[in-house]
Amino acid sequence: MDASGIALVTGASRGIGRAVALELARRGFEVVATMRDPAAGGALTAEAAAAGGSLRVARLDVTDPETIVVPDGLRVLVNNAGVEAEHPPFEATPLEVWRTMYETNVFGLVETTRRAIPALRASGGGVVCNVTSSSILVPVPFYGPYRSSKAAVMAIGETLRVELAPFGIRVLEVMPGPIDTDMLAESERPTAAIDHPAYADMARRMFEGRQERTAGLVTPADEAARMIADAILDDDAPLRVGCDPLSIGLLDGWRATSDEEFMRAMMGAWLD
Ligand SMILES: NC(=O)c1ccc[n+]([C@@H]2O[C@H](COP(=O)([O-])OP(=O)(O)OC[C@H]3O[C@@H](n4cnc5c(N)ncnc54)[C@H](OP(=O)(O)O)[C@@H]3O)[C@@H](O)[C@H]2O)c1
Repeated sequence: MDASGIALVTGASRGIGRAVALELARRGFEVVATMRDPAAGGALTAEAAAAGGSLRVARLDVTDPETIVVPDGLRVLVNNAGVEAEHPPFEATPLEVWRTMYETNVFGLVETTRRAIPALRASGGGVVCNVTSSSILVPVPFYGPYRSSKAAVMAIGETLRVELAPFGIRVLEVMPGPIDTDMLAESERPTAAIDHPAYADMARRMFEGRQERTAGLVTPADEAARMIADAILDDDAPLRVGCDPLSIGLLDGWRATSDEEFMRAMMGAWLD
């Protein structure tokens, strides 16, 4: 597609969303950078203008339908807003944690997308870009709520890829690996499972292994944003793409092997 018309990004106050909003403005879209607190986007418009781009900030909380206002002329929706939480063992994770996570990562994305589709159709087509996670591809212990919320979006994206194709709306799933953001920084410590004696060894191994596996592979958000913008603009991009070396490698491995084979290889990282 050509870089024209409106691109709306959710969760653009910081991290990947902020970087994608700026990158899409640089490429030529009129960007609506949405966020829960517009004050967090104070410098964004000027930063985009300095790079020759057009960007305005708007309030949008994906869990509050009244704030989900979709502009006419929409051509790209980037469903980026997402949350993580503590990761205790499954048996010690209250239902409330699941519900809160799904409220943003799944239902918020569903409602935003539902409202955006008529505008994308009226524009003659466009792109819905869902930001999930490469952790879907790895059986990470203690990550049930987060991984399953992203896996729900993966399945929703597959369905929409077909359902929206007749309208020229292309659905894209970006599956980041470790990107240098607040969310990654929050996860740079042992999970809450380490406080549960029956699971402490696995939690410790998981933390140490994670440090080893991601060493040297953490990608700056602006680099990831460039790859995300490339995929948005590429009409031949596959449904799923990575946006950093680790996620690209994981996707390649996942595609090259059977589900069982890949799962067995990955489980070796967590078990004795
Ligand atoms: N960083 C990684 O390594 C990584 C890896 C895999 C997947 N991801 C995914 O990438 C996306 C962006 O993550 P990030 O690393 O940039 O995280 P981040 O730095 O924590 O930023 C998360 C963004 O989501 C926004 N948000 C949270 N709840 C929201 C809501 N109800 N309505 C609107 N916005 C909301 C936050 O807004 P506030 O500023 O208001 O809190 C913030 O802008 C997420 O979907 C995440 O799951 C990230």
